[in-house]
Amino acid sequence: MTMAGSACGKVILVGEHAVVYGVPAIVVGIDHGATARAVRLPGTRGDSELAVRVEGLSAASIAVRPADATDLGAAFSALLEACGVTGAVRVEAIADLPAGAGLGCSAALGVAITRALLALEPGPSASPDDVAHRATAWERVFHGNPSGIDAAAAARGGCMLYRRAQGAVAIEPITAARALVLAIGSTGIAQSTRTMVEHVATLRVREPERVASAFDAIATLTGVARRAIESGDLVLLGRAMDDNQRLLATLGLSVPETDALCLAARQEGALGAKMTGSGGGGCVVALCPAGAEGVVSRWQRDGFSGFSTVVGANEAR
Ligand code: MEV
Repeated sequence: MTMAGSACGKVILVGEHAVVYGVPAIVVGIDHGATARAVRLPGTRGDSELAVRVEGLSAASIAVRPADATDLGAAFSALLEACGVTGAVRVEAIADLPAGAGLGCSAALGVAITRALLALEPGPSASPDDVAHRATAWERVFHGNPSGIDAAAAARGGCMLYRRAQGAVAIEPITAARALVLAIGSTGIAQSTRTMVEHVATLRVREPERVASAFDAIATLTGVARRAIESGDLVLLGRAMDDNQRLLATLGLSVPETDALCLAARQEGALGAKMTGSGGGGCVVALCPAGAEGVVSRWQRDGFSGFSTVVGANEAR
């Protein structure tokens, strides 16, 4: 029997990078993501196959086996192990998110594949946190030191405060008093999360006080943003996003295309705009309570691409 799983992509509203070092971050699931289907094959785990197709990356699927000496092969192998798969399986997965864009493509794939693999076993379905925990084995191959925020958002959806400190994860769903209308724009530059996380790690060793003070300021902004979302004060939320963008730029995470997208969004009425995810390219998120169409059209006129999404209240699983 073929079993299916799905997961959503994400945007981080406040707190990326700092979240790797124990600062809480706010993340929302978006309505683009990944789906996966798994079926048993004759043979043992080593005979398993994975075929993945990612929007914008390849027209055809990329096929791997767990023993392949590629990141995808290693991630598949780690996930089969994390899901306790002993026999052979064939998995097909599709992501309708661009890769390397900061929208949680790899986590969405990892979570969707985890769900499809776990569904092959009889019994109750795994909790979102169990799924996210297992999918972190996949994420570790691509990201080195993931905080787990992408996998948590992929598994739960909705809006949440995420914190990983001293190895323990704390997740608090956030109820938005008003729907969050977001425009998501792409710089067109794919970037590796691992590279950007390593960039911050190096900076932290070289300039510990400067990075610590940026992270402290980001922690304050996360608190402000949470209260703003819960009270429906979107002007305050937009200001927190702008302040977070300025801090991320001081850490060398913004590129000129990011700055151009943020400026254009604000000129078209967005209340705040910032890079989202690992930076160094990737995507920008803008808060547009009056509607995201004007911002997305402006980005398109300026030669970028974008789309809009709405995050409602109480959507977390
Ligand atoms: C990537 O979406 C978010 C980062 O903070 C890395 C992580 O938390 O794993 C840059």
